[in-house]
Amino acid sequence: MERELAMEFARVTEAAALASARWVGRGDKEAADDAAVEAMRSVFDTVRMSGTVVIGEGEMDEAPMLYIGEKVGTGEAPEVDIAVDPLEGTNLVAKGGAGAIAVLAAAGRHGLLHAPDMYMEKIVVGPAGVGKVHLDAPVRENVEKLARELRKAVNELTVVVLDRERHADIIRELRECGARIRLISDGDVAPAVACGIEGSGIDMMLGVGGAPEGVLAAAAMRCLGGEMQGRLWPEDENDVKRAEALGIGDVRKLLMMDDLVATDDIFFAATGITEGSLLKGVTFGQGSATTHTLVMRGKTGTIRFIEAQHFFDRKPKYAIKGAF
Ligand code: FBP
Repeated sequence: MERELAMEFARVTEAAALASARWVGRGDKEAADDAAVEAMRSVFDTVRMSGTVVIGEGEMDEAPMLYIGEKVGTGEAPEVDIAVDPLEGTNLVAKGGAGAIAVLAAAGRHGLLHAPDMYMEKIVVGPAGVGKVHLDAPVRENVEKLARELRKAVNELTVVVLDRERHADIIRELRECGARIRLISDGDVAPAVACGIEGSGIDMMLGVGGAPEGVLAAAAMRCLGGEMQGRLWPEDENDVKRAEALGIGDVRKLLMMDDLVATDDIFFAATGITEGSLLKGVTFGQGSATTHTLVMRGKTGTIRFIEAQHFFDRKPKYAIKGAF
């Protein structure tokens, strides 16, 4: 994929963020999600590529747009596999909480794990922690090793964990070893990405979240030179069958970076919807809006933060809610 696609993918996540940002705090997560999906879908069609959605809004019969297998783009070369989460953190937008993003990853064909919509155990660290942590190691061991590499005391290290009952043991172990914890209510992609961004204030992410979100985070870590390890966390026999249907033979296999994202021919783009530790949220001005986007390319590892101002009189389709 040529470098020019970076800007195109930024436009795609910007559009999704601008559309769903109008739903912040209004208590309607479906409407917020629909707006993001529709906007993302519409801008995708202006991108010169032959895209196939491999991680999306669901199966063809479940989602009207951005379903798995759907073709996006103009249909010209290159062929690209696409993972999307037009609104990552639907509850965050519905309640006006921090950290919702619009996000996508794009890779050369077969570059992304076709993760089923189920849970995944995850550990994420930035470049300093590569090869030093392990999903199956005790929490204390991972924390102490990362702290050493970062030349921090353990109580200067910040670990993000989704605030869920299933994480009671992880939280207890983190407290026992003295690490700082940031408990989040939703949205584990942005903090995972933040692990790889110098100065973000987040060093590690631990726990069980969505598997599709895991692949998106792994795509970012591939660009950032960090590390993510995962393992699918099926809840029942049906989950196991769904994983097998996607060609995952050993559902409990430890998934390393190469299993999650098999190529450096990859882009990652995310735009903030609500203010978070990774990205600023959308702010509306007089007939305009400002967006904050992170876009990265795996081949070169360039990290770009793009602050963009959008003027509705010049871009009328951005002005009317849902009308893209
Ligand atoms: P949405 O699909 O509503 O945007 O939720 C996203 C999310 O919070 C992810 O970031 C996280 O991986 C997952 O849901 C956690 O799932 P659960 O809420 O079931 O614990």
